[in-house]
Amino acid sequence: MADQPALRPGPIVRALQGAFARDAGRQELLQLAARRIQEAGPPYTSVYLYMLHGGELMLEAFAGRTTEHTRIPVGKGLCGQAVAELRDINQPDVSTAPGYLACNADTKAELIVLIRRGQEILGQIDVDSDMAAGFPAAEEQAVREVADALAVLL
Ligand code: SME
Repeated sequence: MADQPALRPGPIVRALQGAFARDAGRQELLQLAARRIQEAGPPYTSVYLYMLHGGELMLEAFAGRTTEHTRIPVGKGLCGQAVAELRDINQPDVSTAPGYLACNADTKAELIVLIRRGQEILGQIDVDSDMAAGFPAAEEQAVREVADALAVLL
C-alpha cells in the first residue's frame, strides 16, 4: 500500500464545509485552508492562497513565512505560469526552474494547485517546502482535494 500523505484532506474539507455552513466569508475560508494545510507539517512549510483578479494574482491568505510577492501578474513566476498555462505545477527543485520568484533562501520545492470552478480559474494554493522534491503525487492529490472544496464554497 502506498504511504499515507502527510496532508489528510478529509478533515480540512469538512472544516471548510462547516465554516461555510455557519456563514464564514471568503477570507475566513481561505485563511482556514492555509492554516490547516500548513499544520500538516513537513513537507508543508508555508502555504499561500493567491486569488485571480483580472490579470493579477493577489495574496489573500497565508500561513508560514511572509512573502514580498503579494501581487503576481499572470505569466510571471511559477504562480503566474500555472495560470497562464492552465496547469498545476509541481517543481521538485526551484533552483532549476526558469522564472522562479524566490521569497526566501530555504525553499527547495514548490507545489501550485489551481482552484478551478469548471473552466474558470479562481486562484491557486501555492505551497513552499524546505524539503527537496517535497511533494510526491499523494501530496499533490491531497492539496487538490482542498482546492476542489474551495472552488465550490468560495
Ligand atoms: N515562488 C513563487 C512566488 C510566490 S512565493 O514563493 C510565496 C513563484 O515563483 O511564482
